[in-house]
Amino acid sequence: MSKKILLSGVKPTGRAHIGNYFGAMKQFVHLAHSGAYHCFVMIADYHALNFIQNKEEMQKVIYELALDYLAIGLDPEKVVIFKQSDVSAHTELAWIFDTLVTMPYLMRAHAYKDAEAKNKELSVGTFNYPVLMAADILLYGTQTVPVGQDQKQHVEYTRDIAQKFNNTFGETFTLPEELIITDPHIAAVPGTDGRKMSKSYNNTIPLFASREEIEKVVMSIVTDSGSDIPANVHAIHRIVSDELHRSAEEFNTMYDANKGKYQALKKLLIDDLDAFITPLRDRRAELAKDPQRVVEVLKRGAEKANERAQAKLMQAKKAIGVL
Ligand code: ADP
Ligand code: TRP
Repeated sequence: MSKKILLSGVKPTGRAHIGNYFGAMKQFVHLAHSGAYHCFVMIADYHALNFIQNKEEMQKVIYELALDYLAIGLDPEKVVIFKQSDVSAHTELAWIFDTLVTMPYLMRAHAYKDAEAKNKELSVGTFNYPVLMAADILLYGTQTVPVGQDQKQHVEYTRDIAQKFNNTFGETFTLPEELIITDPHIAAVPGTDGRKMSKSYNNTIPLFASREEIEKVVMSIVTDSGSDIPANVHAIHRIVSDELHRSAEEFNTMYDANKGKYQALKKLLIDDLDAFITPLRDRRAELAKDPQRVVEVLKRGAEKANERAQAKLMQAKKAIGVL
């Protein structure tokens, strides 16, 4: 049985948090190592350029994201890890698609409407975001795109764009399917203020936090006095406890024994978070000793990605009549 082609992109936009881990990264590593797919993981730096316009910060977030994925166990021998900007076929194909895609169609995208509601002076790059994403996906003959629920529409757009190209110029692109990877039991990991954990709310627990950071952030979790169990602490702890393979009975017993003792419960959460994070943090620190290795991984990934992407771009250029 031949392996399916899987591609996912991750935007480097800041420090990963445990919401990203439980909601997406963990499932992604499982899928990538399942043996069922030929996998590509792309650091979407050209997408991020819409948000990060500072040289040092860009360099930092790219490196940190690559390190994060290696630290959670993604094996570069099994998965092609590369940067979008290293494969110029992405922007080239995006231009070709730009000539086929209409403005009213892009204006209907949720992400565009949300961004526009917040800021009227959007960059053309933000408007075009789904077109570049379609190029990312279609260049590799991708069949499966693992994403969170919020990215479903982008994959639908990708299918539409592929279909339109194929109808206009002949069969060239494979139509991809999204695979929603969010664990239904953990649809949204709550943040320290009880809202969904998100970088944009400043309520995160960083995935590679130090013990001191864990203590500080857990102490800042908002608790509503009056109930026996602090709801926010409980909700986060439940997820971490499962990760440590503690049974539901044991977990409940722990909370029963500490009814009303908010400080004690927070202390228990700190210990569990530290037990979960320590191996990840140690692995990341080990990898960070050799930054050249990250450079090599991305370089090797770019070579492999370019090989495949160029072949598909040539096919598209022939189809449109410029080659
Ligand atoms: P943020 O909201 O912090 O900017 P992103 O939008 O970059 O996070 O999300 C990256 C991935 O992590 C997405 O696939 C998203 O579904 C997942 N994710 C983000 N926050 C959470 C959360 N609180 N709970 C579960 N999954 C999350
Ligand atoms: N838009 C995705 C996000 O914000 C990132 C992304 C860029 C992507 N290109 C992709 C995801 C290709 C899947 C496939 O999370």
